[in-house]
Amino acid sequence: MEHKGFTLWFTGLSGSGKSALADLIARDLKKRGMKVERLDGDIVRQSLTSDLGFSEEDRIRNIERVTFVAKLLTRNGVAVLASFISPYNKIREYSRKEIGDYILVYVKCSLEECMKRDPKGLYKKALAGEIKQFTGIDHPFEEPDNPDIIVETDKQSIEESKEIILKALEQMGYLPNNN
Ligand SMILES: Nc1ncnc2c1ncn2[C@@H]1O[C@H](COP(=O)(O)OP(=O)(O)O)[C@@H](O)[C@H]1O
Ligand SMILES: [Mg+2]
Repeated sequence: MEHKGFTLWFTGLSGSGKSALADLIARDLKKRGMKVERLDGDIVRQSLTSDLGFSEEDRIRNIERVTFVAKLLTRNGVAVLASFISPYNKIREYSRKEIGDYILVYVKCSLEECMKRDPKGLYKKALAGEIKQFTGIDHPFEEPDNPDIIVETDKQSIEESKEIILKALEQMGYLPNNN
């Protein structure tokens, strides 16, 4: 089904649920017959941006490159689901300006809960000093000052968060009519 392209951009701490939510929504949008692509920090950092580290400068470069890809896909009618910590307001606004049809989702979750989940064991390593420049531990995360959607994954189920996002997309006119 023809639909307008957009980038749904998930920002949040490691372990907040960006990838889990983006994967779930990708499945849902595909079922509706939409053209969908996923861009995920962990995967992009093994390919497109494998030369980059986690300094402020490299985090910005990482997002700049991904934004370039998201922009091309978006203007070709793809629903892009991008999941990146993307910790700075300045780079989030850069992506918004470049992509245009950009919807920022703040995947809000307390650092305590993220550390408890620790799905990849990274907080443990960061606390032990084995990983440096880890967001929330020894590197900053700026709360988004201009999110379009906020989900609170330490208070909602993943299904509830998904419904909030889909409803918002529908209200913004990004979902094709089901009739
Ligand atoms: N309400 C929730 N919303 C999203 N994820 C949740 C929720 N409750 C528990 N989780 C779990 O938390 C983990 C989040 O990991 P992940 O999606 O990889 O985070 P991120 O991509 O933000 O680093 C997943 O294992 C997910 O199943
Ligand atoms: Mg992830």
